Amino acid sequence: MKICSSKFIALVFVPVLLSAVVLVYRAHPFHPAPFPLHEFTHREERRDPALVDARMLDRSHFVGSPHLQGPEDLVYDSNTGLLYTGCVDGWIKTFDLNASVLRNWINTGGRPLGVALSGSQLIVADAYQGLLRITEDKKIEVLTNAAEGLKFNLTDGVDVGKDGTIYFTDASYKYQFHDYLYDILEGRPHGRLLSFNPNTNETKVLLHNLYFPNGVAISPDQSSLVFCETPLKRCRRYWLQGSKKGSVETFIDNIPGFPDNIHCDGENYWIAISSSLNPYLEYANKLQFVRKVIIIVESYLSLLKHVQKNGGVYGVDLQGNPTAHFYDPALSLLSGAVKIGNQIYVGSLQYPHIIGFNMSKSQIS
Ligand SMILES: *[C@@H]1O[C@H](CO)[C@@H](O)[C@H](O)[C@H]1NC(C)=O
Ligand SMILES: *[C@@H]1O[C@H](CO)[C@@H](O)[C@H](O)[C@H]1NC(C)=O
Ligand SMILES: *[C@@H]1O[C@H](CO)[C@@H](O)[C@H](O)[C@H]1NC(C)=O
Ligand SMILES: *[C@@H]1O[C@H](CO)[C@@H](O)[C@H](O)[C@H]1NC(C)=O
Repeated sequence: MKICSSKFIALVFVPVLLSAVVLVYRAHPFHPAPFPLHEFTHREERRDPALVDARMLDRSHFVGSPHLQGPEDLVYDSNTGLLYTGCVDGWIKTFDLNASVLRNWINTGGRPLGVALSGSQLIVADAYQGLLRITEDKKIEVLTNAAEGLKFNLTDGVDVGKDGTIYFTDASYKYQFHDYLYDILEGRPHGRLLSFNPNTNETKVLLHNLYFPNGVAISPDQSSLVFCETPLKRCRRYWLQGSKKGSVETFIDNIPGFPDNIHCDGENYWIAISSSLNPYLEYANKLQFVRKVIIIVESYLSLLKHVQKNGGVYGVDLQGNPTAHFYDPALSLLSGAVKIGNQIYVGSLQYPHIIGFNMSKSQIS
């Protein structure tokens, strides 16, 4: 008996393959939820920022290459001239800007993400270890790793107020850092905004039910802080003082990409943009089954990296109006940006260096 091969494919192979696909899909334990699309604004009228540079890499140099693996967030100590950053191998490294020297500083044994200074001490949001304080003589202390009986699973962004209070985020109590994509695509709010008082050792939850809250930055007048919710492409403002104390409002939404860390230089907030939104990711936002397919496919093939592009830096003034957008089609997974003089130093989850972008070389400034 001879089976015609095209008939064989049509009658046996295709149905078997389809059933296998359906089985894998059904059996997979990932069950995304709809995003609160009503909370996405569709304001089209917002003016473009005055400064736009779509070829950021043309005016950049690389710092610390190739010894900085995934330098996620950055903080600059102007007293010592050192730029601190946390890498994927657990090392916090310093780059001396004047001397151009890169040094290993201390290894947290986890994954250092957000970094901030409290006097001469470094405060670190370590994805796995919790909130850490590292003294000048390199003693590591875990300040807190749980609140209201729930452990942090992804301590992420941090900033320190002038009064010493530490504000930070746990992006997810459910997923750990290596599974962050699950949290972003699941569409449920597993994140919290918290504070830690170093005088009383008290950890307080300021806001519950946030969508992957990422970076945190305190306003120069200390009256509020701004935090970014990555999958919702927005940053919100939480009031620390005044008549609105304890309330939260939208600071900027409809950001042209997924925001990560945020830092304030006194005049602008600088938001690192991981990737722009594109039609694929737009569908993923709207349709849960697309997000589930992405999770299944990503575990076999890393396809997402091919649609992530236009990573960059978004500048926003103290009122939340966009002032600058520097990006490049070839960049993705940018994660933290600080401005020092005319340079913006940018970290990422994947590159082996910090990107130094020369703003004054940009033809638009
Ligand atoms: C770095 O060098 C500049 C120019 O030489 C100098 O003004 C500045 O004080 C130095 N900074 C530090 C922290 O050494
Ligand atoms: C934290 O993450 C771990 C590892 O993924 C998981 O087993 C645990 O259940 C998570 N914690 C919570 C509270 O969901
Ligand atoms: C806070 O914790 C530290 C270290 O665990 C401890 O030395 C200190 O006494 C504590 N402070 C208060 C007010 O409990
Ligand atoms: C930045 O660009 C300006 C203008 O081209 C140049 O004068 C300056 O030296 C550059 N700075 C650095 C650190 O490359």
